[in-house]
Amino acid sequence: MALANCFVRSATAEGLASGTGRCSPQLIGLLAELARGGVGLIITGRTAVSPEGREDARQLCLWHEDHLPALLELTQRIRDEGGKMLMQLGHAGFFADAATNGAAAFGPTAGRRQNGSFCREMTRVDIRKTTDAFARAALLAREAGFDGVQIDAARGRLMSAFLAKHANRRRDEYGGTAENRARFLLEVLDAVRRAVGRDYPAAVKIDAGDFPPEGPGTEDLSGIAARLEAFGATAVELTGGTDPSIARIPACPDDTRPESEGCFRREAQAIKKAIALPLILNGGCRALESAERFLEEKICDFVALSRPLICEPDLIHRWQKKDRAPSRCRSDNQCCRTVRAGKGLYCLTRRRENQSE
Ligand SMILES: Cc1cc2nc3c(=O)[nH]c(=O)nc-3n(C[C@H](O)[C@H](O)[C@H](O)COP(=O)(O)O)c2cc1C
Repeated sequence: MALANCFVRSATAEGLASGTGRCSPQLIGLLAELARGGVGLIITGRTAVSPEGREDARQLCLWHEDHLPALLELTQRIRDEGGKMLMQLGHAGFFADAATNGAAAFGPTAGRRQNGSFCREMTRVDIRKTTDAFARAALLAREAGFDGVQIDAARGRLMSAFLAKHANRRRDEYGGTAENRARFLLEVLDAVRRAVGRDYPAAVKIDAGDFPPEGPGTEDLSGIAARLEAFGATAVELTGGTDPSIARIPACPDDTRPESEGCFRREAQAIKKAIALPLILNGGCRALESAERFLEEKICDFVALSRPLICEPDLIHRWQKKDRAPSRCRSDNQCCRTVRAGKGLYCLTRRRENQSE
């Protein structure tokens, strides 16, 4: 896949799908604005591959042909704007919304969420069904005209929870050693590959750590990345942290210090030595100088931005037009609130500033 530049819009939940998970005109508008804004590759917000994997009622879903017509409109529009787009495929795991889904959330091990609700442990049948759901969604994404897919194994969601020792206390072949904990993700990648063929782009997003109170959480990152390469991943995106760990991740809210830029760059350097695949670095990148440095120093091959592009969807064009000022994003995470409140994705801080001007 040829991209116009090295900037990627990291997957960002838009909260703009219809109540039945279909793509809406508002979502098409938001993603088209990003394509016009010059970002080389857009990755959609996490799209649920199965009904029980939904995170909220306004999340994009893809498990049925009925979802296709609106998605075909979306991909056509992005092509018209000259953009490229991957669909992020995911399962919320512990974060699944039991009220929306009418089924209890599940994860690698049973437990209670912060809100007190109960998550059950996945059976082998659940694992097989979920693997099939990812493969089917990837096939549907290809039919819908996406340039590729990204499998979400980051930020505490289902497959990230399997990788993390503190969340995965299974005693079967999916728990215990780092190799066992990666088994589910590799089976999903393998199933996706078999469904869509060797040449269709299938990237994977993983955590440098999910920062539970007891430590960084993820171990043997380079080993996981090397196995993803062996199983046919097209690219690896590296990020870190999850909602409950937000205060402990290196680029915590409101941290706009230059030294926090690219907060997972050290882990990226280690991974880069283990794989030949393109590596996408995500997390706290706001300045063009930092992105250029990460690329020049070969810490990564692409730089992914989420919050800066919520604040300024045309940021890449602005930089191309020689206005090299860093993003106006303050990393204050107010954008997460708008999505959670069901109001869709926008930069609350910027809107407030504009209203008071
Ligand atoms: C409002 C919001 C929604 C997000 N939704 C997703 C998502 O659907 N899938 C995902 O993998 N990451 C999601 N993320 C995480 C971002 O992709 C990114 O990893 C994180 O914000 C760090 O990058 P940044 O510093 O450039 O914002 C979300 C982040 C925000 C702020």
